[in-house]
Amino acid sequence: MLKTTVVAIALPVVVLGGVLAACAGQDVLKLPADPKNYAPVEKFEPMKIPEKNPITAEKATLGWKLWFDKRLSGDGTRSCYFCHVNEKGLTDGLPKGTGAFNKPLARHTPTLWNIGYHSEWYWDGRAKSLEGQALAAWKLANMGAKDEKEDKVRAEVLEKVNKAYGAEFQKVFGKAADEESVTQALATFMRTIISRDTAWDRAQKGDATAMSDAAKRGWEVFQKAKCTNCHNGVFFTDQQYHNIGIGMKAEKPDVGRFNVSKAEKDTGAFKTPTLRDVARSAPYFHDGSVATLEEAVKLLVGGGIDNPHLDKVNLQKADLKDAEVKDLVEFLNALTEPARIPEPKLPE
Ligand code: HEC
Ligand code: HEC
Repeated sequence: MLKTTVVAIALPVVVLGGVLAACAGQDVLKLPADPKNYAPVEKFEPMKIPEKNPITAEKATLGWKLWFDKRLSGDGTRSCYFCHVNEKGLTDGLPKGTGAFNKPLARHTPTLWNIGYHSEWYWDGRAKSLEGQALAAWKLANMGAKDEKEDKVRAEVLEKVNKAYGAEFQKVFGKAADEESVTQALATFMRTIISRDTAWDRAQKGDATAMSDAAKRGWEVFQKAKCTNCHNGVFFTDQQYHNIGIGMKAEKPDVGRFNVSKAEKDTGAFKTPTLRDVARSAPYFHDGSVATLEEAVKLLVGGGIDNPHLDKVNLQKADLKDAEVKDLVEFLNALTEPARIPEPKLPE
């Protein structure tokens, strides 16, 4: 059903070398064409890149390998990719995943498409930079790389990373792998995780055959039902926090954004997720409590789940016929991203 496309990249041949050949006919890593003006999404503003961590193709390539390398985790069992896999829309397909040392995680793994365009990270937006997020994911529960006694990455993890990548770190950063350089490389790689080639994107560019008739009707329903109050723009997220009632009936509900803002109205509010690739990223919501896309859509169409903090300003029950709900689901299917993160060859 999905056509794989080869995406144009700049600086590729030198940087990726053999990888390109290995990936012939598949998607390839999307590297920055113009590192000073990195604007991977057509007709959209350039991505904001921190001055301290300029984006380069070499750095992204290094981060791409680290992203797949289990040696980064505290117990050697998992890489970042372990929980953000292609087949599951860059999630893990579980209600809630398990981190290194078998640590159960508190929330559902979110997708990462266009994650470099966000300005706050995690479901509650507690991370203020992508570098900071990467460090937290690396050191804390997900990858468990933190030293048991000190607040720093285990010496043996860094030693393994330096053994495999020391020369590459010297070349890219002029120093060995440390907390800063590893997280800068990971963040740079994540800025290349771009969705821009869905059927909807092609339809927007004028390809009348890109979307099925049902999906076209669904796109109209999506706008009519005001899903765009929160899932707006090319990324289908306003990057704001809303309570739609998920998990509020729990004995001790996850208060979400309230933890960060301490504002009463943010109780049980979570960052609006992008809907790109949503058909592949079941189960749904921050607690992974809903198994199918159809159920998730019905919950939103119904106006969410009532509770004292429900965002009734932006979310109201939409009076839709069953056929319209079906069309909505078809539209969301048209947001499935054909690009994939290719698997690199890792050093010994
Ligand atoms: C064991 C599973 C697991 C692993 C391994 C993992 N993640 Fe995640 N990731 C998650 C979960 C769960 C969340 C959501 C946590 C939250 O919001 O509280 C998340 C969230 C994120 C986000 C924020 C997304 C957003 O919408 O703001 C980014 C970025 C990310 N991870 C990158 C990484 C990186 C980098 C690594 C490797 C260093 C990594 N992940 C390893 C499960 C995982
Ligand atoms: C008030 C803002 C708002 C409106 C309006 C809204 N959503 Fe959402 N949507 C959210 C938030 C916030 C979440 C995540 C909530 C959570 O996990 O607690 C979400 C989650 C979803 C999910 C699950 C995505 C995932 O990755 O888990 C789907 C599907 C979805 N919305 C579709 C829709 C549709 C279809 C409509 C219109 C009928 C709609 N939404 C209207 C804010 C909104």
